Amino acid sequence: MNIQDTENQYASGVYTKRPIAIVRGEGARLWDSEGREYIDLVGSQGAANLGHGNVAVAQAIAAQARNLTALPEMFYNDRRAALVKRLVGIAPKGIQRVFLCNSGTEAIEAALKFARLVTGRTEVVATMRGFHGRTMGALSATWEKKYREPFEPLVPGFRHVAYNDLAALDAAVTTDIGAVILEVVQGEGGVRPGTAEFLRGAQKLCRERGAMLIVDEVQTGFGRTGAMFACEHYGLEPDLLCVAKSMAGGLPMGAVLMGERIGQLPPQVHGSTFGGNPLACAASLAAIDYLESEHLPERAAELGTWFMARLGAIQSPVVREVRGLGLMVGIELKQKVTPYLQALMGQGVLALPAGLTVMRFLPPLVISQADLATAADAVEAVLTQPLTPAKDGHAD
Ligand SMILES: Cc1ncc(COP(=O)(O)O)c(C=O)c1O
Repeated sequence: MNIQDTENQYASGVYTKRPIAIVRGEGARLWDSEGREYIDLVGSQGAANLGHGNVAVAQAIAAQARNLTALPEMFYNDRRAALVKRLVGIAPKGIQRVFLCNSGTEAIEAALKFARLVTGRTEVVATMRGFHGRTMGALSATWEKKYREPFEPLVPGFRHVAYNDLAALDAAVTTDIGAVILEVVQGEGGVRPGTAEFLRGAQKLCRERGAMLIVDEVQTGFGRTGAMFACEHYGLEPDLLCVAKSMAGGLPMGAVLMGERIGQLPPQVHGSTFGGNPLACAASLAAIDYLESEHLPERAAELGTWFMARLGAIQSPVVREVRGLGLMVGIELKQKVTPYLQALMGQGVLALPAGLTVMRFLPPLVISQADLATAADAVEAVLTQPLTPAKDGHAD
């Protein structure tokens, strides 16, 4: 049985799949089982900011794996101590402590619990088109019906207001609200940057009315938008900052960075067997060193500006808007995006959707400008030439 048939028979079935098996990666290039090479603008959905097969991260993982892999937080550990200190050092102003976990949705789940604990309030305001993960709390904050409806009833007390609508947020954040949760740039919701007025306004409302501001930087963190954290573009000082994806150079890891209004939490209120394991901590330390020494946030800012201008120059009747921040870029189409993603794959370029009509690009931040230019040429070709229907497969 080949790779695809085997997964189709034995894997859960919860993912729509593309009809290729990726077996190797290097930097911003991927290779499939047939030896075909692709320029990768999916970037493992934001988990591969440092590029595939990053040697610095691989060496840190190998060394730590031989030394100590799993160790619950009931014991202190050298790698964990170094990481939590380092994270506080690179975090936006006001962050004092860190809870370590293993994924984005777990970081959101923890942040929601911590906000409840600290405020004693159970109501949460989230945003329309927001995406925060798929466990029950995070799913309750997520807006998209197709993710939510099969699992209702969800956690009570969540309401959604239009993103970038400060008046709507003002009306929703009463003194019953324990937390406001939002992304700085909505990712899954269509690559929609927040306005400074909305984001800073949300922070002010939270401060005035006793709610915690939870900023979800699971997708925007670790250099993606042209700063280490997207909060920096707006001077945001969240009470709870959720990160994951690229924080350990591709290894599963998440974290909640906590400000002074959260403070030190009481023992036993939350936990995770794998949270803060030395292997992920060592990988994350190497990843942060690499991001800084290679100036990847600055690189994302420069390349992102160039890429967005290049895409913005495409003359196509199907393009509605090009938008983004740093190397988090989307093209909103007037039509469904799937056939265009399939056509792009046929040209050796992998990109991902954000909703039904947005083509999304999250390339590794190490991508060369030449690869980005080749990819942009391919995007232009598929958006300006007649589409040839794909024979099989999806590009979801
Ligand atoms: C903004 C945001 N929050 C949370 C999540 C959930 O992260 P994970 O898939 O690691 O659970 C994602 C995943 O795409 C995300 O983009």
